[in-house]
Amino acid sequence: MRRSLRARSRDFVLEWIPAGLELLVRLRFILIDNESMRLAPKGEVVDIWIVDLSVAEQTLQRAQTVLSEDELQRSRRFRFPVDCRRFVMARANLRRILASYLHVAAQTLVFDYSEYGKPTLSRPPSQMRFNVSRSGERALIACTQGREVGVDIEKERQDIEIDDLAKRFFSAPENAKLQAFPLPDRYQAFLRCWTCKEAFVKAVGRGLSLGLDKFDVSLGIGEPGSGGATSTEKFSVDGWSLTPIVSNTLEGYISAAAVEGAGIELRVRTPDEIPG
Ligand SMILES: CC(C)(COP(=O)(O)OP(=O)(O)OC[C@H]1O[C@@H](n2cnc3c(N)ncnc32)[C@H](O)[C@@H]1OP(=O)(O)O)[C@@H](O)C(=O)NCCC(=O)NCCS
Repeated sequence: MRRSLRARSRDFVLEWIPAGLELLVRLRFILIDNESMRLAPKGEVVDIWIVDLSVAEQTLQRAQTVLSEDELQRSRRFRFPVDCRRFVMARANLRRILASYLHVAAQTLVFDYSEYGKPTLSRPPSQMRFNVSRSGERALIACTQGREVGVDIEKERQDIEIDDLAKRFFSAPENAKLQAFPLPDRYQAFLRCWTCKEAFVKAVGRGLSLGLDKFDVSLGIGEPGSGGATSTEKFSVDGWSLTPIVSNTLEGYISAAAVEGAGIELRVRTPDEIPG
């Protein structure tokens, strides 16, 4: 018996529309997976996120909602509101970035701290490694998988006693190299050395307690030349790769990253790349 056109249309709707919907749902998951694969650093890649901390009050208030109770308590202990804002924005961005790599809500991340204060992620369990540095209105957040990482950023300034500090904290070859720079280029050269050293002690996790004169990063200072020297070359110290970080969004700042191992590629990113 021939079925009516109406019955056949109804069967079509009942059979094919759910199948089509299921296909769409599957396609969406495939697209989301691809998106996160693009986002998470793999292998020798280290993501360096550059965060602008100068935000409006409304953005600051939104950022506070993802912080844990102990982070909020810490933020309230800052004497000046500007320091509170910078801490909150750096933490909130760290949470957003890690959460998008790991497909969890930013509020659910739980941090743990080493005896020297280096934060690590304790929940959810993962291979993610990260490090944060702040100076002025910028934060750097370095993220990678399965290898330790450290970063340091410093706002350029000329009101520091660089020669005294260098004598106190730098190795003999670093001091010799620094003195080859005429003033005012020596200020930038000093900060290139300082940021490489801090990135290194932060990657190792010991902070300043490691002793800044116990290792040598004179290669990171660059060479004196007309208009000052810039070194963007990576080099290695005791099995760690050191790389000065250069980006036009970091004008007026000097920064470096240290990563465990060799053959490292740094990928500079900004939070507007985070999906959602
Ligand atoms: C880590 C250290 C070098 C930071 O230097 P800094 O120039 O003042 O600050 P930066 O902005 O570059 O870095 C601060 C970030 O480094 C991270 N950090 C803290 N301690 C760290 C450590 N031991 N190793 C690596 N990273 C560390 C934190 O994420 C911190 O961010 P937060 O303040 O938002 O939590 C310095 O504070 C230090 O040496 N700390 C060790 C102190 C210590 O030995 N404590 C022992 C127990 S009392």
